[in-house]
This record gives sequence, structure tokens and C-alpha cells, in this order.
Amino acid sequence: MQKQLDALLDAARAELAAAADNAALEQWRVTHLGRRSEVTGLLRSVGSLAREERRAAGQAANAARRDLEAAFEARQAELRRSADGAQVDVTMPGYPVRLGSLHPLTRTLREIRRVLAPLGFRAVSGPEVEWDRYNFELLNIPADHPARDMWDTFHIHDKARPGELLLRTHTSPVQARVMEQIQPPVRVIVPGKVYRYEDRSAKNEAEFMQVEGLAIDEHITMADLRGTLTHFVRMMFGPDRELRIRASYFPFTEPSAEADMSCHACGGKGCSVCGGTGWIEILGSGMVHPKVLADVGYDPDVYQGFAFGMGVERIAMLKYGVTDIRSFYRNDLRFLRQLR
Ligand code: DAH
Repeated sequence: MQKQLDALLDAARAELAAAADNAALEQWRVTHLGRRSEVTGLLRSVGSLAREERRAAGQAANAARRDLEAAFEARQAELRRSADGAQVDVTMPGYPVRLGSLHPLTRTLREIRRVLAPLGFRAVSGPEVEWDRYNFELLNIPADHPARDMWDTFHIHDKARPGELLLRTHTSPVQARVMEQIQPPVRVIVPGKVYRYEDRSAKNEAEFMQVEGLAIDEHITMADLRGTLTHFVRMMFGPDRELRIRASYFPFTEPSAEADMSCHACGGKGCSVCGGTGWIEILGSGMVHPKVLADVGYDPDVYQGFAFGMGVERIAMLKYGVTDIRSFYRNDLRFLRQLR
């Protein structure tokens, strides 16, 4: 009988291994563990054996039955595990994926670059820790010049070089750095961080970004400045924008001008965005001062050009309707998501 049981177990195990789904498994269970199965039959037949054989035969048949049951459960569990991996319900709703996005200031900066690139302006950069010489002297702002009051400055205390290092208050020093390095024609923009020793408020940050523009060549006039800025405001704020320039003062330009555009919110009629005037101030500009050209070694009788400088946060505030400049630096995702 043990031989018969062993053969039965071998055959049943082989069949079980081949049972690949629940139906096959159930079929196997009925065949090998059911009421009409071979083990059940053998167990029943134990009673008809000779008395001395009954005990051993009963034990062997029961052990075989337990083996078959254990094998069945193991196979069942195995099939269930592989089904979990293989059966994907494609109709189930997916997990939402939160997409990141560029910071509004990054987007504004990129747009400014994209708008000015076709006019030939290439982006360059300069150091944020700057020499007084570049931030002021070479921009026609000597020590003790009253115009220094226009830029409240963070000075850097360095015993070896007292009063010489500072955090740049504007991107204009890169004008001098570029002109020292290359000969005209020059067409660059300078995006970068600048620093002012000022209280922070809804309108002012102590740390913010500017984009400087500089174009130098042999026959550049104020009309080129106007044309460039007109292109700029129309690309940034819509084709209907008008440009207006007003006389102003910067030590490094002569003449100097402040540029306004017709209000993009009301079209120039007057609203709360433009304070009722219909015009919005967007940047400072002018024709580069001959002294600035001469100090970097350019001949002002041959070369001239224009420059401009704008606050990136200001442009972004106007574009996105943001009223507090500090929101750009709070890293509040609710704010950032609104501007996506
Ligand atoms: N650097 C000036 C500022 O930060 C802005 C500026 C005005 C830049 C006139 C220029 C310019 O290049 O021509 O206030």
C-alpha cells in the first residue's frame, strides 16, 4: 500500500504543479481529495484489511492525505500571489501625479531673454560681490557724488581693502565689465541678483533681480532705444502697448530716460493698476554717458549706444497681477500654483 500511496503522491504533485488557474485547482481538489478520490478510497478500504495491517495502513493513508492538503494550500497561495502581480485592472482610476513647474520669476526671466534674443542681445553675468569701482566709479559715480544716495548699499568689511567691496546694487557694473573685455559692437543683457540696504515692504525687497541691457556701436541713436523698448513692451504685454519716455537722471547715461508703457490692464484709460494715469513705469534707460565709454577705453567720438535696466519682480508683478513683491520669495506653494 505504501508503494501505491507514493505513486499516487508523485502523480498528484505533478498535476498540481501544472494547475495554473482556480478552475484547474478546483478540479485537482475534487480528483485528489474529494469523496471519490484515490486516498479517500484507500482510507475506506483500511477496514477490510487484516487486523495487524490496519493501523500502519491507516496512518500511511492519513499522512498521504495531509501531504496532499498541504500541497494544495501551498499551490493555492502561490497562484494568488502571482495573480496580484499580473492582473492589473486598467479601469481603476490612477494616482494623480503632481507636476512641478518653473518659478514665475524664472519664467519671466526666460521670457525677457526670449524677447530680446532676436534683436541680438546675448545674456552674460557678473559677480554679486562687486568692487566699488565697477558698481560706482566706472559708472560715473565717484566717491562722495550725491547720486550714491540713489543706491543704499550693503558694504562688505574687509580690513585689507576698506570700502572697496560691496553687494552690487544694480546690474549696471556688468556694462563696464563687458566693455573692458570686448570691442564694439556690443549687445548684451545681464540678468542677475542685486542688493539694496532697504526695509522690505510690499513694494521693495532688499534682494531682488534686474535685467540690464547694453547696445554699443557706431551709429546707435535714441530711436534705436525707443524701437527696442517698444518691441519689448509689445512682446511682453501685448501688441497694443504704447511706449512713452520721460526725461530722468542717471549718472551713467546722458540723456537719461524713464520708460512707461500704456497700461495693459485698462489699455490707457486709467484704472487702479496704473493709478488712474493710464501709464505704467517699467524701467530706467538712456544713452550711455561719454565718460563711461571713455573710462573703459572706447572712443566716444566713434562709439555710442544705449542702456536700460529693469526690475524682474516688477515685470512679473505686472504680468501676473501680483501686489506684494515678497510673495515671490515665500515659497508658498498655494501662491506659486496660482501663477502656473
Ligand atoms: N541701474 C539703474 C538702477 O538700478 C537702472 C538703470 C537706469 C540701468 C538707466 C541702466 C540705465 O542701464 O541706462 O536704478
